[in-house]
Amino acid sequence: MSKQASIHYNGSTFDLPIIDGSEGECAIDIKSLRSTTQLITLDPGFKNTGSCESSITFLDGEKGVLRYRGYPIEELAEKANFLEVAYLLIFGELPTQEQHDVFLTDIKEESYIDEDLKKILESFPKSAHPMGVLSSLTSALTAFNPASVDVDSNEQMYNAIVRIMAKLPILVSWVFLKRMGLPLKYGDYSLGYVENIARMMFRKPNKEYVPNPIIDDALTKLLILHADHEQNCSTSTVRIVGSSHAGLFASVSAGISALWGPLHGGANQAVVEMLEAIKQDGGDTKKYLDKAKDKSDPFRLMGFGHRVYKNFDPRAKIIKKTADEVLGDLGVVDPVLDIAKSLEQEALNDSYFVDRKLYPNVDFYSGIIYRAMGIPTEMFTVMFALGRLPGWIAQWREMRTRKEPIGRPRQIYVGHNKRSFVPMDKR
Ligand code: CMC
Repeated sequence: MSKQASIHYNGSTFDLPIIDGSEGECAIDIKSLRSTTQLITLDPGFKNTGSCESSITFLDGEKGVLRYRGYPIEELAEKANFLEVAYLLIFGELPTQEQHDVFLTDIKEESYIDEDLKKILESFPKSAHPMGVLSSLTSALTAFNPASVDVDSNEQMYNAIVRIMAKLPILVSWVFLKRMGLPLKYGDYSLGYVENIARMMFRKPNKEYVPNPIIDDALTKLLILHADHEQNCSTSTVRIVGSSHAGLFASVSAGISALWGPLHGGANQAVVEMLEAIKQDGGDTKKYLDKAKDKSDPFRLMGFGHRVYKNFDPRAKIIKKTADEVLGDLGVVDPVLDIAKSLEQEALNDSYFVDRKLYPNVDFYSGIIYRAMGIPTEMFTVMFALGRLPGWIAQWREMRTRKEPIGRPRQIYVGHNKRSFVPMDKR
């Protein structure tokens, strides 16, 4: 007999089916709850609510496990290139060499931006925050590519995916170059996907560009680690925007805005700003741990804690090791890395953090690596967005091809009951 859960309410019993996931996790299927019981569920922040069934990413927050399409993140970060991982997430399987090369060639074909979009970028002040600029430009891409995608057409779907995979790295590097006051140039399309991004970003107009394999490898790893993370805030945003049948570019642009917040992707910027502030303040990490524990102080230890991980974030483990290697290989000495390490050690031995299962997350060390590469702090979340792009695409594609209904939560109304209008002179 299939598993069921029962609700006893108002003298009646209602049976609800249990849905089994492939890794042993279970959910109560409440699709018929309101029509049979008049009840809805209430779960602010969706802490216990599954919004979909998905075959893309599995994570077990208690055990610190993360897998894309079944492959452990540790293996992918060690052995794969970013485009392979993007292909895996979007299309479900690792590409053959031929599939990989065709994907890359198709992306290169689409690697150009309408010159009018450049004018929009140029109209932003240099001081504009890169995430605001990236979100606006991605949204503007929609205006230059207005044709809606027939999701039943594999060809149209593929073309839309290739187009955004091609154009977002150009926008990201141009946002960076604008920030640095450098000319907006295209890359060298004989290079690999990530190698070309590095070239677009780091080539100086007055020097021959010499690729740095340390930077290429670190960038590859960071992008892979950020590539998907199931139903997080920005991904849920992409899915819900797409559920209204808004196009891929518009949905991704909304995802970029959601990612910007300091509780989500914006944490990588906030971490380094916090570490800098601690350094300026004499390096007193204990003072900042006390602030984080003080409920009357809004300060939080940025880069610590996660909605789902109640154990080490597996990405943080990889990034911490990478930070040590990259800084060592590049010969960068950054006192902020030492502050991060002491802060981590102290927090991991402090009952406040231990009791609440607060561990370093992916953002705790990523900013330190970006900094060592010469990327300014305000660009960190833009780099996160670049990494997350394949995940957003994969999730948008899954949602659209499964013909999921429009996302539209309900609410419990707790406002005034019906009352009569009072004219202004009587209020
Ligand atoms: N510093 C101090 N206390 C914290 C922190 C922190 N970073 N994170 C959580 N807590 C406390 C929180 O005050 C609460 O305490 P209490 O039970 O006494 O009220 C308890 O831990 C549970 O926290 P919560 O806010 O209910 O947990 P959440 O699941 O709603 O929030 C989070 C998760 C990531 C937003 C939160 O841990 C946080 O704000 N962390 C700092 C920001 C950050 O690093 N964000 C990046 C997340 S990883 C990248 C990504 O995927 O976006």
